[in-house]
Amino acid sequence: METNRRNILKTGTAATAAAALPNILKAQNTPDTIKVGIIGCGGRGGGALSQALSADKNAMLWAIGDAFQTGIDNAVRIGSRFKERNQAPKDRQFLGLDAYKKVIESGVDVVLLCTPPHFRPQHLRAAVEAGKHVFAEKPMAVDMPGIKSVIESAKLAKTKNVAIQHGYCWRFHPGTREAYQKVLAGELGRVVSVYGTYLSSPVSALANGIKKPDGMGDVEWQMNWWQNFEWLNAGPLVEQCIHTVDKVAWAMGDIDPVAAVATGGRSHRDDQSNIWDHHHIAYEYPNGVMAHVGQRQMKGTYGDVTDRVYCEKGTMYSPGRCKIVNTDGKTTWRSKPAEVDDMYQVCHNEFFAALRAGNIINTGVYMAKSTALGLFGREAAYTGKRIKWADYWNDTYDYAPDDIKFTDSFPVAPAPIPGKPRVHTQPSR
Ligand SMILES: NC(=O)c1ccc[n+]([C@@H]2O[C@H](COP(=O)([O-])OP(=O)(O)OC[C@H]3O[C@@H](n4cnc5c(N)ncnc54)[C@H](O)[C@@H]3O)[C@@H](O)[C@H]2O)c1
Repeated sequence: METNRRNILKTGTAATAAAALPNILKAQNTPDTIKVGIIGCGGRGGGALSQALSADKNAMLWAIGDAFQTGIDNAVRIGSRFKERNQAPKDRQFLGLDAYKKVIESGVDVVLLCTPPHFRPQHLRAAVEAGKHVFAEKPMAVDMPGIKSVIESAKLAKTKNVAIQHGYCWRFHPGTREAYQKVLAGELGRVVSVYGTYLSSPVSALANGIKKPDGMGDVEWQMNWWQNFEWLNAGPLVEQCIHTVDKVAWAMGDIDPVAAVATGGRSHRDDQSNIWDHHHIAYEYPNGVMAHVGQRQMKGTYGDVTDRVYCEKGTMYSPGRCKIVNTDGKTTWRSKPAEVDDMYQVCHNEFFAALRAGNIINTGVYMAKSTALGLFGREAAYTGKRIKWADYWNDTYDYAPDDIKFTDSFPVAPAPIPGKPRVHTQPSR
């Protein structure tokens, strides 16, 4: 379970460093084209598909899989922008919950995993077992059994020479990378504390009055509104604010925390969802360093997404246009836009360049641990207890099985109440 941030950063120069290695795609007897399959093509999947095809002039859209027709239509629309590289005809457009299997079996080289996070461990395992290179969006799972499955898949990927590229996009942003490198190189002295915020509006929230249509199964309905149900999205601390949590990990050199104490609740939500709408997590790190994360998704409230890394000689502010302010309050450094400044594009450029160079990126364990840090904070908030990181790894609760069906009955579990026993639900058919 060890993650080394330096390994992650090395992916930035992967293509050059590994230029002498054999071309993995050629070694696998695949032609010079790279066949890309998209699994889950909503907002982010559409972006990832476009970035993958832009990253390599011989990458083609080969297969599409989505649980809903709208996702397939979106992928077709994006693929058509790439003209003759749009090679996913109707018989390689797969609909339904088993679409991922069909994409993986369709002869693809690379799959882009962009569904809601409940499905990530299952889809990652299937892709790795079949020897397909993977780009996986964050977060990696919604519970610890999912995290452990991702770690197993990452180990398997190593033995099979299969690449796993991660979607923690800020780690690819040139200016943000430079800022964190300065912190990690000790230019500002020791990190004293961290405070990161993700204060925003709700994402695809169930408005009052939106109810499940007659005749539609629980699972199908909840998947339509996946941002509202914990078994699908892990809650906003993990689904959206995981970027902030990940930047805490980054600032701390990706070392393990000791414990977490947290608060939170749902004060704006009186709908059928079961996620919370605000959290505050205090992560305790070795040597008494505290890292705080503030998360909120509420309409009509102050918005702020900023990370502050307080160090002995000053403070680093990120992400985006980052800056360093010294202890006299003077700005001593600002990041500048890079030639390719779009972090999503940098992520895919590096992934495809590494594949071409035969360098097998494997960020699976890093991704799993970064997601686990979010789940750990969420658990501290839900239980109202001080939880130790080492103990949290023994958590075995699995929010939903892999073989879920649209028509399964799956009553929405009540939202957690700190200090009271948790009530869970499971699907049945
Ligand atoms: N890195 C980032 O900045 C960033 C930004 C947005 C979203 N994300 C992540 O990307 C993922 C997708 O988010 P989104 O905003 O694109 O959501 P979305 O709802 O727009 O798209 C999800 C797509 O997955 C499909 N889908 C759902 N379950 C599926 C299954 N089992 N098999 C196949 N298809 C399935 C849906 O039909 C939909 O087309 C999430 O994990 C989210 O956290 C990352």
